[in-house]
Amino acid sequence: MNIVIINGSPRKNGATARILHTMEQQLLGKANVYVEFVNISDLEITPCNGCCLCYKTGHCYMNDDAEKLSNRIALADGLVIGSPTYASNVSGQLKLFIDRGHFVIEQLLHGKYAVSIATGENYGSSDTSKIIIKLLKYSGARVIGKIVCNLPFNKEPNETSKVTRQICELSEKIYGDFQTKRKYLFQTIIHKIIFTVGIKPFVKRKGENYKGVIDKWRTYQVTKS
Ligand SMILES: Cc1cc2nc3c(=O)[nH]c(=O)nc-3n(C[C@H](O)[C@H](O)[C@H](O)COP(=O)(O)O)c2cc1C
Repeated sequence: MNIVIINGSPRKNGATARILHTMEQQLLGKANVYVEFVNISDLEITPCNGCCLCYKTGHCYMNDDAEKLSNRIALADGLVIGSPTYASNVSGQLKLFIDRGHFVIEQLLHGKYAVSIATGENYGSSDTSKIIIKLLKYSGARVIGKIVCNLPFNKEPNETSKVTRQICELSEKIYGDFQTKRKYLFQTIIHKIIFTVGIKPFVKRKGENYKGVIDKWRTYQVTKS
């Protein structure tokens, strides 16, 4: 099982990173699991300029780290996205990647198992969590669970036994669900409605200008034709 873990915080030893590294360690203890840990702040990601050329060609003309990470996610079986809460949202660094990452319209996460981790200090972390989960679900992932962790700045999150337990449970679950190929029927039905009623007709109306998107659907086996 290949799992990509993305730390959306600019802090490599902050609360989000610590939760994600604990999850990484738990996952690496399992048979045949490969984990790629990515600190988003290590990457060079140019902001999306809205040219929409990628919908036609299937890739961004800016061949930077966003494009490379997106390609690696496409090959993974699982994705864990973690972010601190910045003004009741994900970090700016993570948002840059979300905009460039070919997630929703191309259905980048079709059939992959996914986890959301949001940290915060007072209000807003549940909003961050909802934003990440929406992204995962709309992109076709099976969301197996989440952690929403509120704690004082610079406090070690693993000191709180609730978070430690949640990390253990989610690590077991993502591995177990992958082994049993768990389907998440309810999420699959809701996603099918969103895709069939919302995304697909929109893309079809765009014709040749969205040819790259339709090619990706075939590659990811979202559609057969
Ligand atoms: C610019 C900035 C904005 C923040 N906005 C919020 C917020 O709206 N709500 C909240 O609960 N915490 C907020 N925080 C606190 C962080 O989300 C919190 O400390 C988080 O756990 C930090 O994660 P990290 O250690 O992984 O970087 C903010 C912190 C910063 C630096």
